[in-house]
Amino acid sequence: MKILVLNGPNLNLISKRSKNQYGEKNLEQIESLLSKEFPKIDFTFYQSNIEGNLIDWIQKADNKFDALIINPGAYSHTSVAIHDALELCKIPKIEVHLSHLATREDFRQNLITARKTNGYISGFSENSYLAAAYLIHKILKK
Ligand code: DQA
Repeated sequence: MKILVLNGPNLNLISKRSKNQYGEKNLEQIESLLSKEFPKIDFTFYQSNIEGNLIDWIQKADNKFDALIINPGAYSHTSVAIHDALELCKIPKIEVHLSHLATREDFRQNLITARKTNGYISGFSENSYLAAAYLIHKILKK
């Protein structure tokens, strides 16, 4: 099973951001954790601060991967372009957030990209990613 894990802007610097919101682990540690907890899954990890790069990967994901886990960062609340790319991508897709968005600012309540995923997980720090991998495994094994 091949899963693409995409991370958007500023997630390369989570260790410098609020630990209360985003937890203790940096992105490399989260990626290692995923590989360790799910040794049978073949993960590909990609992070970019650039919207178009994320879209290029989403567009290619259909042919190359069985499922997509995506944390679009702040683009979750703004990007119609990522929303449209996700709409075209037919594999199972789960959006993840480290922080608990329902408890945060009003501008983070608008979830544009999540509308074109199977669902989203928010508020469990690095465990949001583990939960997404678990759910994808369940979805694909049906
Ligand atoms: C985030 C939440 C977004 O609102 C924020 O802009 C991020 C990280 C999260 O994982 O909690 O960069 O996607």
